[in-house]
Amino acid sequence: MKTLAVLSRKGGTGKTTVSLHLAMAAWLSGKGVLLADCDRQGSAQEWRRERSIGGPVVFSTKTAALFATQQAGQRAGRDLMVIDTSPSASEDLAEAVRCADFCLIILRPSFLDVRAVRETAELVGRFGKPGAFVINQAPPRRNGREMACVGDTVAQLAAMSRPIMPIGLRARIAYQSAVAEGRSVQETAPQSAAALEIAGLWREVEAALWPVAVPAAAG
Ligand SMILES: Nc1ncnc2c1ncn2[C@@H]1O[C@H](COP(=O)(O)OP(=O)(O)O)[C@@H](O)[C@H]1O
Ligand SMILES: [Mg+2]
Repeated sequence: MKTLAVLSRKGGTGKTTVSLHLAMAAWLSGKGVLLADCDRQGSAQEWRRERSIGGPVVFSTKTAALFATQQAGQRAGRDLMVIDTSPSASEDLAEAVRCADFCLIILRPSFLDVRAVRETAELVGRFGKPGAFVINQAPPRRNGREMACVGDTVAQLAAMSRPIMPIGLRARIAYQSAVAEGRSVQETAPQSAAALEIAGLWREVEAALWPVAVPAAAG
């Protein structure tokens, strides 16, 4: 079983939205998925309660119990555990990072969000874990051009020597409506730009979690 930690010290950046959409993308592709909800607010649990049909198992857990949750997921034969973290103290985040095979650091394209991710990126680095930034809630392009806040964010993140996921998520009502119905945008609006973003982000994450071995050159 692989483990994906979805992190950021700030509230409202989109950890839960990204966590449940990636958990769903994996589940829709046939994987057994456990979504570990570490936030006492239980937003992922709320989403799952709205969902009257099959889907990822959502398990509410304290960060201190994450390792045990991971072991249980492994014993149950799950393929993937996604950890939806809370905007919590660094000791809590450290436990999520410790359990992770790959970390996503979520931020909005804003000055304060960029400032807030530095510490999280350092924490991931301290554990020697691979990971990448995901820019969420990016404003739509205007006249085909990115707004300055997106370019500024990319430039500042570039100095933190950690990759930025090539697929970010735009601010779209589709995400909010899907979550309110206990669904993913891939179910509510399969042909939409939102669904394509999630499919693209999942492809990147899947490749990071299950890298394809390159056969050694013969001779
Ligand atoms: N890409 C997006 N487009 C539109 N709304 C979003 C997007 N990502 C998150 N939101 C909204 O922003 C708010 C915070 O998102 P949430 O996923 O709960 O963040 P966190 O878990 O980091 O606190 C929610 O109301 C959510 O619906
Ligand atoms: Mg949340």
